[in-house]
Amino acid sequence: MSLISELQTILGTSHVLMEGDLSAFELDWRKRSKGRALCVASPANTQEVAQVVKACVAHKTSIVPQGGNTGLVAGSIPDESGQQVLLSLKRMRAIQAIDTANLSITVQAGCVLQEIQEAARHAGLLFPLSLGSEGSCTIGGNLSTNAGGTQVLRYGNTRELCLGLEVVSASGEIYSGLSGLRKDNTGYDLKNLFIGAEGTLGIITAATLKLYPKPLSTLTAFVAVDDLERCVSLLTQSHQALGAQLTGYEVMNQFSLSLVSKHIPQLACPFPNSPWCVLLELSDSESQAHASQQLENLLSQAMESGLASNAILADSLQKAKHLWHIRESITMAQAMEGLNIKNDISLPVSSITEFVRTSDHALGQLVPGVQLVNFGHLGDGNLHYNVQSPAHMPASVFLETFEDQVNTLVYQQVKHFGGSISAEHGIGSLKVLTLPHYKDPIALKMMRQIKVCLDPLNTFNPNRVVMID
Ligand code: FAD
Ligand code: MLT
Ligand code: ZN
Repeated sequence: MSLISELQTILGTSHVLMEGDLSAFELDWRKRSKGRALCVASPANTQEVAQVVKACVAHKTSIVPQGGNTGLVAGSIPDESGQQVLLSLKRMRAIQAIDTANLSITVQAGCVLQEIQEAARHAGLLFPLSLGSEGSCTIGGNLSTNAGGTQVLRYGNTRELCLGLEVVSASGEIYSGLSGLRKDNTGYDLKNLFIGAEGTLGIITAATLKLYPKPLSTLTAFVAVDDLERCVSLLTQSHQALGAQLTGYEVMNQFSLSLVSKHIPQLACPFPNSPWCVLLELSDSESQAHASQQLENLLSQAMESGLASNAILADSLQKAKHLWHIRESITMAQAMEGLNIKNDISLPVSSITEFVRTSDHALGQLVPGVQLVNFGHLGDGNLHYNVQSPAHMPASVFLETFEDQVNTLVYQQVKHFGGSISAEHGIGSLKVLTLPHYKDPIALKMMRQIKVCLDPLNTFNPNRVVMID
């Protein structure tokens, strides 16, 4: 029997797509890479995933797992061979259980992040993972990329939010690790192998995640700052004043905000003349009045000491959402502006100002007039240091002429300052050939050994993260 016939028998004909417009599955979010799948297979449950894996292995066919296809490193789309099975987890979106005493929730991998946040809220609790793509990304994708987002400062990356996983292995067996335990030292921590593996080691089919008590109040401020050095100093001051109550600290340069104003005018920056802006969030478990007082004190101190030149304190949930919306729309505005070079990098916070000063200068020498869309999660040392063509150079010409040189320049700078070339988006296919130049060779060797051990036939997402000879 052909593989397609087998998959149709397992899933039903309507859940094995081969014809029509498959671009939602085959084109990456940034519209920079397009592949072609043998078919799109959509299982309804873990047993079906296991059967699909067994069938693909028997037919020596590789599998590309996909959730919401919002990944930014071209890791969730098939290659151009037309021979890979695209495994979409989107039908598997059940919230399976909420355990309020254990502060945990168990969900299927295809659950959309926003639905998990809402389920937690209905139970009077908080699931803190928060990304601009939360309306369409899935928890399976979040786990597989170890997504970061805007609350890492307080709650950690997706890895820190995961208690257990269910995974289908390359032999089609089901590893049932949905324990929900916070302590379990019975050997290797297997779940942490699959988290951040970008679908190269197994298919995540379900997860048990941590929940938290909901803070009594959450306050947001938008602050105008004259330069990046002051943004870093204000971060230090915010840590000192707010401690663990500081839940978000995002920076945006004016050029990134101007793209939002240009393409989404209703989200215009409140401080269009400020070179930098900071979005700062405080979450308090005492009272709204206490939180307001703390934030007002911090902001007036920042104004007095010259760290801030202006500030808005959102006085309603709606206004806070509006301010967050400005920040979260930078990615979309940048996409609307056209093609560009994305750099998702992390550095020690103490090196960020010098990194940006020297990199801006070097890029300006390489491409006079180059425009920098610089924003990100400063509290985590994570910048989206994106590079856009000079105003009068078509993006396609810029990319063709300068992409490799720009990447090399930025990555060499990252290396010099002791940073990482991928902070939260992963490696995918975009950086798979670059990684060996910047990763410790012994680490890479061990990564390859793990890949070969868990997936000896290279069935899962081949040529992503690590290349196997
Ligand atoms: P996909 O894109 O479908 O897949 C991502 C990777 O995971 C692929 O390698 C895929 O093969 C693998 N995969 C997916 N599901 C599974 C599974 N069940 N089992 C095994 N492997 C699987 N990322 C951040 O970290 N922080 C941000 O702040 C952030 N903001 C974003 C804002 C926007 C507007 C956009 C478009 C993206 C943003 N991202 C961010 C990137 C992206 O949303 C995240 O990487 C997200 O975690 C991907 O989830 P997904 O379901 O779309 O995964
Ligand atoms: C963000 O922080 O908004 C995301 O990581 C997306 C991006 O880098 O564009
Ligand atoms: Zn980000």
